[in-house]
Amino acid sequence: MAFESWFNRTLNRIWGFVEDRTGMPKWALRPQPAFTFKPSYWTGAFVANSFIFQIITGMLLLLYYQPTVNPTFTSCGQPLGSLSSSPGAWCSTFYIIHSVPMGALLLTSHLYGAYAMIFLAFVHFFRGYYLGVYKRPRELSWIVGTLLLLLTLGMGFTGYLLPYTQLSFNATQVGLVLALRLPYAGPLIGPLILGDGTAQGLLSRMFAAHVVLVPLALGALLYAHIALFESHGIAPPATSDPLQRRRFTHTEDQQHVPFMPHILFYITKWALLYAGILFGLAALWPWDLPTYVGNLAAAGVVTEPDWYFLWLFKLVDFYGVTPIIAVGATTVLMLYVLGLPFLDRSKPTHPRDRPFFIFLATSLLEFFILMTVWGGLTPGVQILIPAIVERLAPIFIVNAVVIAVFHYRYRLSYRRRLAAQGTGARLEGAYSTAPSRGAPVTTPTAMEVAPTRE
Ligand code: HEM
Repeated sequence: MAFESWFNRTLNRIWGFVEDRTGMPKWALRPQPAFTFKPSYWTGAFVANSFIFQIITGMLLLLYYQPTVNPTFTSCGQPLGSLSSSPGAWCSTFYIIHSVPMGALLLTSHLYGAYAMIFLAFVHFFRGYYLGVYKRPRELSWIVGTLLLLLTLGMGFTGYLLPYTQLSFNATQVGLVLALRLPYAGPLIGPLILGDGTAQGLLSRMFAAHVVLVPLALGALLYAHIALFESHGIAPPATSDPLQRRRFTHTEDQQHVPFMPHILFYITKWALLYAGILFGLAALWPWDLPTYVGNLAAAGVVTEPDWYFLWLFKLVDFYGVTPIIAVGATTVLMLYVLGLPFLDRSKPTHPRDRPFFIFLATSLLEFFILMTVWGGLTPGVQILIPAIVERLAPIFIVNAVVIAVFHYRYRLSYRRRLAAQGTGARLEGAYSTAPSRGAPVTTPTAMEVAPTRE
């Protein structure tokens, strides 16, 4: 007991010293309400954490990696003679895996970390979409977030070529054909990516983009993203109340939990778990380096990207879909996501009040999952129109029917309750004061019960 109180006092004294000498309370992230101590409120922080993990592991890999296509005529750390003329980039990757202490763990956790970052960015995106966090005043956070998602995919694309395997080389060529067809941006970035048209020119540029340009852009946009988050505070829980305030007042902030150290420690706990899981998976299933570019034995290698681009590759396999159509569809999709805050003008944020946009999100999600699995199972196999309709139509039809029925029942039960109450309240206005049976009842937050509206 005596030890515990001494320990707590000492910790408090150390923390007080750090706060005082660094001026931390003035510059640390803003306080947050207690209801945010749930992982679902910090999906963005998990993505940011995975980015930091990538930077650390990536910098360690830089100590050994060599971005050159020149044949090495060295042993890549193996008995001389066996791998004597493989490209330097591949050879240095081989060396990292087989000769650097813990090299396989490092490289594999960087690769799995990239998968995790992309996956978490999509989780963060869909969470925000379903809970309507893009609504006023967070429209700009959403737009900057969309650009962050594109840059995260860009990190994956540029990193894929670096081990210089025949598989990654083939897929990068296809990806470039698609990227160069982007309206306006394609002709601009074409010469920048391809350079003098040599393999070395391409590898050097991909390397520069992967280790300098894209991470810098990502870091700068992340700074803007977090600054916007700071200015608005966290989005309140989704609700049907159209009058809900979506920002905390200064006085409310002062009653919240300080970011330092409470929320930082909370996120650090998840960050440590994240690193542990990644290292565990990397130790159990280390990455197997495919063969190098130019190996004659690799002539029959299929062209296949990493899983997060499989949906796009499969789209190009569809009968009648040319690269320009695939790129056009992707551009429309991007514009839709960017413009979402201005398209969805409804005031309530709860998914049950936004059936059309929830239908689109759910259909898109299922479409991506289906296309990814399809692309993985049948890479490069052309798909004819009857098979396309047979696979894709059920997604849209089933979602439309289920969401329409659900929404219809919800409106009905809601009207019934209004009639029973004999209130003349506006249909939408009363949603949050009289939740429907089975609808999630959220604990009122300071934002919801506060008398003024934004
Ligand atoms: C590299 C990718 C991204 C990173 C590192 C990132 C990071 C963050 C962080 C740290 C926050 C603070 C709250 C939280 O932890 O959830 C946040 C909030 C937010 N992010 Fe992201 N984000 C990324 C991508 C995106 C994407 C793709 C979107 C949507 C298109 C998006 C939209 C938002 C919005 C609207 C908020 C405010 C949400 C709220 O207040 O609850 N972000 N992001």
